[in-house]
Amino acid sequence: MKTINIKDLQPGMFVVGVIRQAGHVRVKNQGWVRNEKGINNLINSGVLEVEIDPDKTLDQSQPETETVKEIAEAPKQDPWHKSVPVEAELGHAVQMYEQAKQLQEKTFLDIKEGRKIDVADFKETASGFIDSVFRNQDALACIARIREKDGYLLEHSLNVSILMSIFAKHLGFERTLIEELSTGALLHDIGKIKIPDEILQKPDKLSENEFAIMREHAKFSHDIVKDSGLGDIASEIAGFHHERLDGTGYPYAKKGEELSQYVRMISIVDVYDALTADRVYKVGMTPIQAFKKLKDGCPHEFDEHLLNQFIHCIGMYPVGTLVKLKSHRVGIVAASNPDSPLQPVVKVFYNAKNMFHVEVRDIDLSDKRVDDELEAAVKPEEFGLDLIKFFRHSMLP
Ligand SMILES: [Fe+2]
Repeated sequence: MKTINIKDLQPGMFVVGVIRQAGHVRVKNQGWVRNEKGINNLINSGVLEVEIDPDKTLDQSQPETETVKEIAEAPKQDPWHKSVPVEAELGHAVQMYEQAKQLQEKTFLDIKEGRKIDVADFKETASGFIDSVFRNQDALACIARIREKDGYLLEHSLNVSILMSIFAKHLGFERTLIEELSTGALLHDIGKIKIPDEILQKPDKLSENEFAIMREHAKFSHDIVKDSGLGDIASEIAGFHHERLDGTGYPYAKKGEELSQYVRMISIVDVYDALTADRVYKVGMTPIQAFKKLKDGCPHEFDEHLLNQFIHCIGMYPVGTLVKLKSHRVGIVAASNPDSPLQPVVKVFYNAKNMFHVEVRDIDLSDKRVDDELEAAVKPEEFGLDLIKFFRHSMLP
C-alpha cells in the first residue's frame, strides 16, 4: 500500500481508502479510478490524500473491462460538507447578520406603529442564512457564539434561526422545510414587542405578576406569525417554543404528542442559546455546561433523542468557542472537525500562563505534528479578553 497526494493519482490506480480530506464525503467502495472525471470527483469532494494498492494498477493501454468498479461516482453531500473554507464565508456571513439585525429593529418599529410585518424580508433573511450554512456552517455558527453583551433581544432570534438551520440540515430535512423552520425561528420572540419595556428590559428577577405578563409573548408571537401568512409550522414553533413535554411549559401547557418534532427542536435550541448568552446580569454558560443543563431536563421536558442529535451537530466545542489548550495557549475554535470533534482548528492568540497576547496562529489539533490538545472551554472574562474585538481584527478578511 502507498499513500499519495490526490494530485499524483492517475487513471488506472486502485484506491484502497481516503487518508486525508478537507470535507467529509464518505467514499464507500474501494476501487479503480478509471478516468480524469473520477479523479476530479474526489478532488471536488475535498479528498487530499489517498492510499493506493500499486499491485492492482491497471494497464491503461488495455481497453476498459466490465469488472472495473468506479470509485466515488457521484459523491452524496453529507451534512458536514463544506464547499468553501470558513475564512471565505465569514465576511459575507457578518454582513448578512448585520442586515438581519437591522431588519429586526425595523420590524419592532413597524409592529409598534401598527403595521404588518414584511414576511418576504424574513424569508429572504432565512434563505440567506441557509445558503451560508450549506456553504460552510462554521461561519454563521461562529458569529452566533461571539456576541454583544447588550444585544440579546436582537441577536437571540437570529442565533436561534441559524442554529435551527444547522440542526434541520443535520437531520436531512428538505430545503423548503428548513426555510419555514428558519423563518419561524427568526420570528419566534416577535411577540415580545407587545410586552411593556419595563418588564422586557428589567435586569432583576421578574415578580410573579410580571412573569405572567412576560409569558404572554409566545401567544403574541403565534398570532403575529399566523397573521403574516407564513405556514402552520412557522406559527407553531413561534407559539409553542416554551412548551415542555411534561406539560409544565407555557402559555398553553401542551404536552407529549401535542408537541411536534419541530416544536421540540426549537425548545432545545431556544434554551441552549439563552443559557450560553452573556447578559448584562450574568455570564453565559459554556456549551458543555448548557448541554448538561438540557440533559437534566430529559426526558420530562426535552426530547432526549433530538437533544443528542443537536449536541452531535453543534459539538462540545462549537466554532466560535473560546478554549484553552494543554500548552496554556488560548484561542477561538475556528473550524470544526466532524471526524474528530475534539480536534478542531483553533486560532490561538493568548497565553494563559504568562498572561500575554501571542502571535495569532491556526493550530490544527488533528495534525499529527501538533503536540497539543483541548483542555477546556473557558470564558473570556477569566482572562479579560474581548472576543468581539479579536474577531473583527483577526478573523474577518
Ligand atoms: Fe421566547
